Amino acid sequence: MCRATLVAVGVVVAVVRGSSVGASPLPVRVSTQATHQHRLDAARALLQESPLIDGHNDLAWNVRMFLHNKLHSFNLSSDLTKQKPWMKSPFSHTDLPRLHRGQVAAQFWSVYVPCESQYLNTVQLLLEQIDVVKRMIASSPGDTVLVRSSAGIMEEFQRGRVASLMGVEGGHGLANSMGVLRALYDLGVRYITLTHKCHTPWAECSQAGPSPPNTRGLTPYGKEMIREMNRLGLMVDLSHASGHTARDVLRTSHAPVIFSHSAARALCDIERNVPDDILSSLAVNGGIVMISFYTNFLTCGEVATIQDVVAHINHVRSMAGVDYVGLGAGYDGINRTPEGLEDVSRYPELFAELLRDPSWSLQDLKKLAGLNLLRVFQRVEQVREELLAVMPSEDIIPIHDIETRWPCRYKFASLNDART
Ligand SMILES: *[C@@H]1O[C@H](CO)[C@@H](O)[C@H](O)[C@H]1NC(C)=O
Repeated sequence: MCRATLVAVGVVVAVVRGSSVGASPLPVRVSTQATHQHRLDAARALLQESPLIDGHNDLAWNVRMFLHNKLHSFNLSSDLTKQKPWMKSPFSHTDLPRLHRGQVAAQFWSVYVPCESQYLNTVQLLLEQIDVVKRMIASSPGDTVLVRSSAGIMEEFQRGRVASLMGVEGGHGLANSMGVLRALYDLGVRYITLTHKCHTPWAECSQAGPSPPNTRGLTPYGKEMIREMNRLGLMVDLSHASGHTARDVLRTSHAPVIFSHSAARALCDIERNVPDDILSSLAVNGGIVMISFYTNFLTCGEVATIQDVVAHINHVRSMAGVDYVGLGAGYDGINRTPEGLEDVSRYPELFAELLRDPSWSLQDLKKLAGLNLLRVFQRVEQVREELLAVMPSEDIIPIHDIETRWPCRYKFASLNDART
């Protein structure tokens, strides 16, 4: 399906550009007095010209919970608002018709495994989620395709298909293994959320109480994990990570980081949100905070509006800079959404709202929509090129970091033992 053709926008100052391709309307800077419809038309024109990239969507976990990963009667290209169990679930906000209406150019699908699986079958569950994301995408080839690079996002944007990408949430899915990390990259995973709601033996999360004093933040092995992600060209995602972990990563990483779905702690004081000191140091790293639409992160309550999302965006813009903010709504992983942003079809409404504010230029809105994430991704790919001569890490997690926590694992016998 192609992006909807838009009616011409008849408002105020048109942006002067070179000859444009086809009949696409040009983005315009509407007057702050423009009607909602005019601003929405202008927002649609802007997102037609420049890609919107969302950092986090949990649909794949709902496919696990609702369908046990059985896709025989599931069609992502169809209208899920009319189908059980999706129509009844407060966690369901996504299908391809709505992604197209929302003008989403690229979606990072979260490959999530619960913390309860840590030290158990976490890698199996993770591979099954990658399998289901790939099968889901493959069954809608006219609407979406898996891409593995920033260039792939732009190619699909030109073609009018949603670029699908995968991010692993969280690091417990790596089972402390550099080999698993590299295999995930080969499968197409392009970011790793270091933790979910549990500490791993090498990284502290924000929501499980402080880890023991000698493992605040990243351990030395955790730092090696970051260097290996840099070498591979895998983005490091700090949503869910503790402040200690985030600061350690910012000191360690050669590449910019992302927060795939977080908000500003200054506006809602919870561990899960990004504190000001990290926001103000983000520009040095070149990374990005992609704003979550979860009401509990926006207002610390059960109700939020588009203006609350705008407030978080503006706060990150003022603390970090306009080059370091993006969108990671977290649809399908949240059960309460802001009024006016009820599902993935509604992103243009956010841009229509931002167009009321003359301090947002069209170019800055394009950065927010996707250009900032593209810049981060491109830099991460460039770091990969720069590190091509570096050998893969052969580090193994220190045994004392796992031996009591992970008793049920295969233990190698001495190399001298006979294998017959
Ligand atoms: C999925 O739904 C779309 C839109 O209704 C339809 O065109 C397509 O044929 C369906 N695919 C399958 C395999 O049924």
